[in-house]
Amino acid sequence: SVEERIEDLMSRMTLEDKVYQMCQYVGLEHMKHAENNITAADLEKNDALGFYPGMLSKDVAELTKEGKIGSFLHVVTPEEANALQKLAQEAPLKIPLLIGIDAIHGNGLVSGSTIYPSPISQAATFDDNLIKEGSRQTALEMRANGMHWSFTPNIDVLRDPRWGRTGETFGEDPYLVGNMGIATIKGLQSDDFTGDDSVITCAKHLIAGSSSINGLNASPTDVSKRTLFEIFLPPYRRAVQEANVFSIMAAHNEVAGMPGHMDKFMMNDLMRDRWGFKGFYVSDWNDISRIAIWHHVAKDFKQAIEFSVNAGMDMNMHGPVFDTLLIELVNEGKVDKSRVEYACRKILEAKFKLGLFENPFVDVEKAKAINFSETHQKIALEQARRSIVLQTNKDHFLPLSANGKGKTIFITGPNANNQTTLGDWVSPQPEDNIITMLEGVTALGEKKGYRIDYFDSGDRSKEITEANIEKAAQMAKQADICVLALGENSFRHDWKRKTTGENIDRATLRLSGNQMKLTDKILEQGKPVIIVYVSGSPIAEPWLEQRASAVVNTWESGAFAGQATAEVIFGVVNPSGKLPLTIPRSVGQLQMVYNHKPTAYIHKYNTEKKVPLHPFGFGLSYTTFEFSKPSLSKETFSGIDDNITVSVNVVNTGEIAGEEVVQLYIRDNISSFTRPVKELKGYKRVALEPGESKTVTIDITTESLAMYDHDYNFIVEPGDFTIMTGNSSRDKDLKTAIVSVKEAIVIDKNK
Ligand code: IFM
Repeated sequence: SVEERIEDLMSRMTLEDKVYQMCQYVGLEHMKHAENNITAADLEKNDALGFYPGMLSKDVAELTKEGKIGSFLHVVTPEEANALQKLAQEAPLKIPLLIGIDAIHGNGLVSGSTIYPSPISQAATFDDNLIKEGSRQTALEMRANGMHWSFTPNIDVLRDPRWGRTGETFGEDPYLVGNMGIATIKGLQSDDFTGDDSVITCAKHLIAGSSSINGLNASPTDVSKRTLFEIFLPPYRRAVQEANVFSIMAAHNEVAGMPGHMDKFMMNDLMRDRWGFKGFYVSDWNDISRIAIWHHVAKDFKQAIEFSVNAGMDMNMHGPVFDTLLIELVNEGKVDKSRVEYACRKILEAKFKLGLFENPFVDVEKAKAINFSETHQKIALEQARRSIVLQTNKDHFLPLSANGKGKTIFITGPNANNQTTLGDWVSPQPEDNIITMLEGVTALGEKKGYRIDYFDSGDRSKEITEANIEKAAQMAKQADICVLALGENSFRHDWKRKTTGENIDRATLRLSGNQMKLTDKILEQGKPVIIVYVSGSPIAEPWLEQRASAVVNTWESGAFAGQATAEVIFGVVNPSGKLPLTIPRSVGQLQMVYNHKPTAYIHKYNTEKKVPLHPFGFGLSYTTFEFSKPSLSKETFSGIDDNITVSVNVVNTGEIAGEEVVQLYIRDNISSFTRPVKELKGYKRVALEPGESKTVTIDITTESLAMYDHDYNFIVEPGDFTIMTGNSSRDKDLKTAIVSVKEAIVIDKNK
């Protein structure tokens, strides 16, 4: 059995060998890339070389040969994965390497892989199965390329969209984030990642970095224990208990004075002891050392390691010195040997189950055949189609007529003809694999008889010059319809021009650079303008939504963004994406979320409305749907395992086929602690032909009514609960019914 194999191997390992398994280094090609920029003067000084002080990639290769490295990250070709595994096989114990990578929406750091829409776009599909399918395919591409561990899903519940990593999240709702996280884990890990077609996953980042006090990455978070348990922790509990996530990454930030990397309560007491987490923890990039350097709660790296490993940390991302210091700490009795034993056992468990001891190598030719295969392309395209949210459609301007003869469409904007549509954690991809906005609109538009004119307004928002604006305006004047591809840029390898992404946070939610100037000038020409947003985080431009004929929010919808967007514009696809976050009208409204507490909007702003630009769950269609009131299989919950079926009849009252997302929210009417005005507890997609009606059923369990009591037991209090169903979180889009609970029900003392 795997257990016996682990015990056998561990009986032949020294303390040192076990610590080496806890060490992760960055890939050699990555290091070499940095080394290319090293000058002769640097070499002479022999410090701060490339990645690791005093070390070159050849030194790391040596360590690998000596069995002193357990894991690598950011290895981006199957050739390199094989080369590293070959080095590891030269070590006495021949323990294969666990290779990790941020395969966030496809194995995007590898050139030539399938790029699925980014997590925020995936959440907008409200389609868990489709997301699971894409993740399954990503696992196949990863394994074919020699990678075994994805640092995904990011199940940070978004509270502040200034955070540059908004596009990497599944949005603001704990239930939706949990569902999407579980779909991702199950797709990537399968049941228990045994075999050569699955990978292990990593829920990150523990915890609440999406709610820092100023929207900046790694800044302190200061939320209450109640908010942690009600908002941020539920997706983690579900990732552990419902999907067996095998690793968790700690967060850069502190919460209420406690840095994530030494938070024993979170890592050990809650996740492991109370909720049953059976996998291992990995640090974020250099973050153990930052306990000392950034947070100033340890005097040096050694003490930081002591605090972190004692709190439950199992692997250091990334680099040298950790091993030597941890060995010293164990020998000095400051870290118990059992912590190292535990960490090593878990890392070996992953390696055995993943089949790496049987064969650590991959067939490079097979990788080429699997990457971006046709079946994978289909799912990426389908996800893109379902993720696009039609935010504004004045007088049914869209879809454009199927007969474009004699009409010209002018397309421009910083995101019109480049790979910004791919989002973060993606390397530049072969051009033939990507359909840009221009390519998508041209292909479909010309088929429908339109003439397409394009002007490069400046390839990113900051480079839109006055001269370009003038030229674009002239071309707009000659056209019948304008398409403006605006938004932000989180495309990873475009460091100088990125306007959002990891460590690039936004002080405003307005369009960056000269985009509004360009837009104003084009609007002045009096032609209908379709705004296409490409952005992982929300754009708050209320004025623009009033003036544009249509606003299509395409997020970062991956390799087929251009095709899916064109299909929506020309009506080949009827849009059905829904907002997984609230789009505020301005940055001043933050933190605006739909599941706020009852008193959040008792008062109003002096210069701003108290409603958002668009609410959570909202998204227009080209057809209309009518919803019945929710009908209930019964009205009273009477025990812990009870459930009630809520039925809603939906009719397509328009003239074309369409898909709708039926959403179910619950409110605890009177409670001992304040509760949100509504919380999403169920949703289902339904496809309807014109005139067709279907009854959609959603089961709600007793647990969906639960809350934490004074002692943090997970309980349901007696009383009435309002069930709300409809097609957005906005009150006027919802119809209600009441269910009740006669006596208090304890769900679980351990939740
Ligand atoms: O996985 C990421 C993490 O989310 C942010 N810091 C770097 C890690 C590895 O790339």
